[in-house]
Amino acid sequence: MKKQPSSAHDGFKEMHFDQLFTHISPEEICDNVFTLTGKVFPVITAGKEDQYNSMTASGGGFGLLFMKPTTWCILREDRYTLEMIQKEQTYTMSYFPHEYKEQVLFLGSKSGRDSEKMKEVALTSVQTPSGDMSFKEARLIIECKLTQLTTANPADFYPQETKDLINKAFKEANVYRKYVFGEITHVWVKK
Ligand SMILES: Cc1cc2nc3c(=O)[nH]c(=O)nc-3n(C[C@H](O)[C@H](O)[C@H](O)COP(=O)(O)O)c2cc1C
Repeated sequence: MKKQPSSAHDGFKEMHFDQLFTHISPEEICDNVFTLTGKVFPVITAGKEDQYNSMTASGGGFGLLFMKPTTWCILREDRYTLEMIQKEQTYTMSYFPHEYKEQVLFLGSKSGRDSEKMKEVALTSVQTPSGDMSFKEARLIIECKLTQLTTANPADFYPQETKDLINKAFKEANVYRKYVFGEITHVWVKK
């Protein structure tokens, strides 16, 4: 894994969470959800300081579900991060400036189940005040509480194209995708 971009050498690694991030409400998120999801890519992290794991995602979004601010993403059932989400029932979705793209993609390149990727990745882990894990380099952190895990069943979809996509994905790995819904508990942005 390459070194961090040079702009990261600003002494911020020594700073505490509350020196780096400020709390905002979900209504104050001013990023475009399509850009965040499809171009920036969320890094989803679950676990606690002694053991945590991250993966990259590219689908999903956020909005209101049963009147609660909620995020959603689609994770393959065998992702190690999903296992940790189920165990802890909390997780973060972190979004990074473009200069950290390489690190973001690295977290999506191999599983933490059988690698040391969390030690190898050139990012600085940080604990939120609630004890969830993210990274000091993130510019937006959304903390979530797991509310719903739903299996993508091809029978529930109408376009044939989507049914085919879900069946193809199933054949590839022998596991289905899970829709993961999480109530937004905190939103943090870089100061
Ligand atoms: C850009 C990008 C987007 C990805 N999007 C998803 C996704 O939406 N859902 C998913 O299950 N895996 C997705 N992946 C794959 C996982 O990030 C990858 O398999 C990762 O190694 C899983 O890590 P884990 O087993 O440690 O949780 C994506 C990977 C990349 C590089």
